[in-house]
Amino acid sequence: QKTLGEATKGKFLFGTAVNMQQVNGVNAAESAIIASEFSAIVAENDMKPQPIHPAEDRFNWDNADKIVAFAEKNKQTLTGHCLIWHSQVPNWFFVGEDGKPATPEVLKERMRKHIHAVVGRYKGKIKGWDVVNEAFEDNGSYRNSKFYQILGKDFIKYAFQFAHEADPNAELYYNDYNVETPSKCDAIVQLVKELKAAGLRIDAVGSQSHMHMINPTVEAAEASFKKLKAAGVHILITEWDISILPSPYEGANISTNFSYSKEMDPYRDGVPADVQAKWNKRMLDMFNLFLKYDDVIDRVTVWGVTDNGTWLNGFPIRGRMDYPMLFDRNNKRKPIVDQMIKLA
Ligand code: XIL
Repeated sequence: QKTLGEATKGKFLFGTAVNMQQVNGVNAAESAIIASEFSAIVAENDMKPQPIHPAEDRFNWDNADKIVAFAEKNKQTLTGHCLIWHSQVPNWFFVGEDGKPATPEVLKERMRKHIHAVVGRYKGKIKGWDVVNEAFEDNGSYRNSKFYQILGKDFIKYAFQFAHEADPNAELYYNDYNVETPSKCDAIVQLVKELKAAGLRIDAVGSQSHMHMINPTVEAAEASFKKLKAAGVHILITEWDISILPSPYEGANISTNFSYSKEMDPYRDGVPADVQAKWNKRMLDMFNLFLKYDDVIDRVTVWGVTDNGTWLNGFPIRGRMDYPMLFDRNNKRKPIVDQMIKLA
């Protein structure tokens, strides 16, 4: 029986995000699936600034080191996520010695040290890094993060410069969600141009691809691929999942603070056949599109392995259970996987 990693060989890498239970073998079933099914992995959390660099003078390398070893053992391509992000970043980055906001010089130097330490440690072991994550709003304006407030938009250039200094051979990526939104995609294309004009390296744009039942449409996703391709960068599908639930982003009116109820796990007795069929079609339509652009798409990574472990259990509605993954709650391959393998 072929795996997705085997079926997509020569087209793109097929990866997944991994957590420590899987890497430690505490979750042995998922661990085995990851080892056999995927040709690439990325840390779901353990290389982010907060877990890896919780205090200015302290790094937690243990988990990240184990992920590196896991990838080596299973001969999988490893990528890094993520160096600079407004979320899951410890507050010490932004506080000056006087308790006031860090000055631009101090924050820039902290970014330099952080990036040099993390990228430097895994030099030669990580194919490429999500250097900056989620710097834009959907309307194309810069997100008003602390990095932006203190350094302005140049924080992005600094991050790419430092990452390249630390590992000149590593690929460097800009990563974001809702890249299919035209205004956001245009802003990213503009950023790519500015980085290139400044002589900085950028290999690819990561399109997270956290999708819903209606949006983004295949057409919107394709339009974003065309724009990125024309901008002269490769594309990575970095965090693919399609929520099977009604989405507040698509107008569904769902209470965000319900306590335990049927609403919390609407499909616990099984996903209705029509809903499942719709999700299957959506998965296949998107996967077909990725295949159509396999000349510029280097990797497709799903954000999790089974419906048990998906981050969408609880996002964006706290406590709500989703069914977005390729493997079900019993760690069984869903039928969709064989259909994807046939398509590839
Ligand atoms: C998520 C993880 O999956 C969760 O376990 C964690 O609690 C929060 O972050 N965009 C990203 C990812 O770039 O890092 C996020 O991962 C999902 C959204």
